[in-house]
Amino acid sequence: MRKMNNSGRCLLVILVMIGALKMFNFCGADLTDGFTPVPLTESNFELQKPYDIPLDQCYSFVNGVHYLWVYADDKPHDPSSHTQPRTEIRIKGLDYSSGVWQFEGYGFVPNGTSGATVAQIHGTAHGATTLILRIYDGDMRYYSRDLVATDLYDKWFRLNIIHNVDMGMVTVFIDGVQNFQVKDEGPGDLYFKCGVYAAPTNISYYMESRWRDIKIYKH
Ligand SMILES: *[C@@H]1O[C@H](CO)[C@@H](O)[C@H](O)[C@H]1NC(C)=O
Ligand SMILES: *[C@@H]1O[C@H](CO)[C@@H](O)[C@H](O)[C@H]1NC(C)=O
Repeated sequence: MRKMNNSGRCLLVILVMIGALKMFNFCGADLTDGFTPVPLTESNFELQKPYDIPLDQCYSFVNGVHYLWVYADDKPHDPSSHTQPRTEIRIKGLDYSSGVWQFEGYGFVPNGTSGATVAQIHGTAHGATTLILRIYDGDMRYYSRDLVATDLYDKWFRLNIIHNVDMGMVTVFIDGVQNFQVKDEGPGDLYFKCGVYAAPTNISYYMESRWRDIKIYKH
């Protein structure tokens, strides 16, 4: 057999390296590798909206896209609630108390929507939510604090949220890139939500987000 020349050896080393990287899930491997899709039906999607208006005045579903919007002076979702207005999809009916869970969805926030929570993990041992992702002036923040992503107006972005309930860790990916990680705050009535939910302050009058291809995975 002919001895391998330098460039052949080089190519071999590169191929071995690519193999190793793939094996260890580097190189932007699919975030859902190792996860199992959780079958969802329409009954898993529950809508919360201002209690006094019909659904078609705050929500539509066209060509696979959920459009959710709310105004700053809309009513809360329930007459007895004192929370801010919201139009949100709750993904309910899953036993999400242990294991590793993942939300995946493509989101779109039109320019002008500000001070709106567009995705969250409801439930925690302390307070109401494990994770709040809000848009302020086109940037995404963890509550009103840490910057998660910038410049998101008027474009589709892929959001993946991995909640390792067993390890108590939440990781947020935008377009496949890990942008944020935080410890959770213990167990609760856990479920994922997306849509628009007005923040306490700094809110635009009109708030809208759009979502498509919402999937839940676990392992
Ligand atoms: C959003 O709209 C404002 C006002 O029309 C404009 O100045 C700004 O450039 C827009 N931002 C983006 C990202 O399109
Ligand atoms: C909210 O508005 C105030 C006053 O304009 C500003 O100082 C603050 O940084 C804003 N907060 C966020 C999260 O945008």
